[in-house]
Amino acid sequence: MKTIEVSAPATIANLGPGFDIVGLAIEGYRDRVKIELVEESIIELKVENNTGVDIASKPWENSASVSALKVIEYANVECGFKMELIKNVPIGFGLGSSGASAAAAAYGMNKLLGDILSMEVLVKLAAEGERVACGSPHLDNVAPSLYGGFTIILDIDKPKIFNIKPLMDFSIVLVTPKVKLPKNKTEYARSLLPEKVDLTLMVKQQASLTNLIVGIMNGDLKMIGEAVCRDYVVEPARSIMIPKYYEVKDEALKAGALGFSISGAGPSVFALTYPEDAENILQAILEKFSGNGLEVMGMITKPSPTGARVERS
Ligand code: HSE
Repeated sequence: MKTIEVSAPATIANLGPGFDIVGLAIEGYRDRVKIELVEESIIELKVENNTGVDIASKPWENSASVSALKVIEYANVECGFKMELIKNVPIGFGLGSSGASAAAAAYGMNKLLGDILSMEVLVKLAAEGERVACGSPHLDNVAPSLYGGFTIILDIDKPKIFNIKPLMDFSIVLVTPKVKLPKNKTEYARSLLPEKVDLTLMVKQQASLTNLIVGIMNGDLKMIGEAVCRDYVVEPARSIMIPKYYEVKDEALKAGALGFSISGAGPSVFALTYPEDAENILQAILEKFSGNGLEVMGMITKPSPTGARVERS
C-alpha cells in the first residue's frame, strides 16, 4: 500500500494590514501527517498530540483528515486512508495550527494520488478542510503552509496565489500571552471585526497593504515593518483581546522592532526585526507583559522558505 509522511509549517497570517490575504510561513513548528492509502472507503485518524491542548480526533472533525478527504473527492478517486497526525503547532496561539495540519494532509494526499492537483487547488481544498476547525475557509494560513515564504492571495474564489521567498534575512519575535478567550477563538476574533469600513479608512488600509506588498517584493524589511504597524481595521478591533497591547507594541518598537502586530487571530503578537536586535525586543515584550501580571511565553524564529514537504515516502 502507498504511504507517505509530510510536514507543513506554522504561519503568521494576517501580516498586519493583509487581512485574509498576506501570510508568512515560519520556522519552529511543523505538523506532520502520515497517510496510508487504502482501497476500501474507510477513513481512520490517529492523533499524537504534543500541544497539551485538546484537539478534535474524529476524522470528520479534524482539519487534516477533512482536507485529505476533500482532495479525494475533488480528484474523484475511490479510496480511503489511514492517517496519523503528529500535532506540534500550538493550538489557539494564532499560528495557523489547523491550517498547518490541513496543508500537510492535502499535500500528502495529492502526492499519494500522483500529484494530480495544482497547488492553487490544494489551497482551496485545505482551506475547506480548515473550515471544520475555525468556522470559515480563509486561505491566508494554508497558502504559506503549502508554499513556504510569503504568500499573497490574488483571487479568493478561484484561488490565485503569488508566492515569494523572503529576499532578506530577518528574525521574528513571537510572544504569546496567556489570556482567557472563548473556545472557538478564531470565530470570536472574527466577530470583533467591523462589518463595514469607512471609505477614508479603506483608502488608508489600501495604502498600508500596498506598502506591505512593495516591501515584500523589494526585500525591504523597514518598509514591511512600517506597513505591518499600520493596520487601521483589524488590529484596533482585536487589540482588546490582549491586555496593554499598545503599551507592549510601544516597548517593542522602542527596543528596535521594525514592525509589530497580532499574529493571525491572536493572542500571539509578533515583531519583525534585524537578527541582532531580536533578543532585546523579546525581553522588552516579555517584561512589559509580565509587568502587567500576565503569564507569557516567547521565542525568536525566522521565516520558513519551505512550505509543505515530503519527509518520507
Ligand atoms: N486571517 C485569519 C484571521 C486567520 O485573522 O481571522 C485566522 O487563523
